Amino acid sequence: MSDPNGLHLDDLSLDELLRRRSVKWTHYPPDVIPAWVAEMDFPSAEPIRRAVSAAVERSDLGYPPFIEDSAFGEVVSGWADRTYGWQVDPESVTVLPDVVRGLQVAIQVLTEPGDGVVIQPPVYPPFFGVVKETGRTLVENPLVFRDGRFEVDFAGLDATLSRAKALILCNPHNPTGRAFSREELQAIAGLAARHDAFIIADEVHSALTMPGVPHTVFSTLGDEVAARTITVTAGSKAWNFGGLKCGYAVGGSQELAAKLRSLGHLMLGGASILGLTATEAAYTEGGPWIDEVVAYLDGNRRLLGNLLGKHLPEIVYAMPEATYLGWLDCRLLNLQPDPFTFFLDKAKVAFSAGPNFGSQGEGFVRFNFGTSRAIVTQIVERMAAAVDRART
Ligand SMILES: Cc1ncc(COP(=O)(O)O)c(C=O)c1O
Repeated sequence: MSDPNGLHLDDLSLDELLRRRSVKWTHYPPDVIPAWVAEMDFPSAEPIRRAVSAAVERSDLGYPPFIEDSAFGEVVSGWADRTYGWQVDPESVTVLPDVVRGLQVAIQVLTEPGDGVVIQPPVYPPFFGVVKETGRTLVENPLVFRDGRFEVDFAGLDATLSRAKALILCNPHNPTGRAFSREELQAIAGLAARHDAFIIADEVHSALTMPGVPHTVFSTLGDEVAARTITVTAGSKAWNFGGLKCGYAVGGSQELAAKLRSLGHLMLGGASILGLTATEAAYTEGGPWIDEVVAYLDGNRRLLGNLLGKHLPEIVYAMPEATYLGWLDCRLLNLQPDPFTFFLDKAKVAFSAGPNFGSQGEGFVRFNFGTSRAIVTQIVERMAAAVDRART
């Protein structure tokens, strides 16, 4: 498939991908197909390539401008309004090297050492580390698998928030691919209000909701909700430039925005000049690319379901509503010593190991299908052949 931007999403070559220097393509030997770290294999959006190349051409690789001297806040604000009806005061945007730094500074702004911070595993592994490393108390409220999808355990959330100061909400959710509905988010907001808890909303996958699946920005649920929310996000996940380092946090009230800004450069770190450039290009001219990529990923998530149904029906796969990540429950296959090691050793495919996302991930792997249909197919064929060999 190709699009007017000249994207050739179907034409990826493993030989060419192996020339990339990113961790995804350098960590494992070349006979292993990497389907782990959350970056996609597609060619970058043309407006991003153009803007970054132009910066390189004019040797514009110095320190990034002060945020108030750049268009960044205005660009974020315009994109948030056009895309989600989210009103962002450009001055409330705090620039960061990445989203994980945003989680860290939000925890520091909203809570004190020792305070409880709730996370809902299985979840993006740094959620565990960032709570522990900031000296807060990790409180787990695992998602529950009900009627074929992962859901928030609201009774559990009520109980855990009673001994916590904040919740780190991952929406859309990595690794389950849930895009929580407005009603679910309202219920979360209601419990946060009841317990006077803050919400740290990691919405970095927001632009990767599948066609027809809305993304609700948590802060848009009302002024009272916004006043207890810090949103942390970036253009880098959806537009695939994680290596350029640029994320940002938005305080949902003047007070929270001011607290974030007051942290100073040593804590906040700032972005790279190329990261700012790429984010601005993504948010102003990256619409056609993301539309094309999301449409393609929609096909991939269905293809993955069909292939697993045909070759490995024991694997339980709840098709994601967002992201390019499949959360595969391999427990019925009883793979030894565990599914990650089995598929790496026997199928030469590197997934993300389920237990990295919490103890709920035992027996699971996370499949990154942000690649061509041919490569997705090859991965499942390798998995199926390895399982067949192990049976005979
Ligand atoms: C939920 C979530 N938050 C944060 C990140 C990392 O973002 P960054 O590289 O900007 O820290 C990821 C990466 O996959 C993610 O899935």
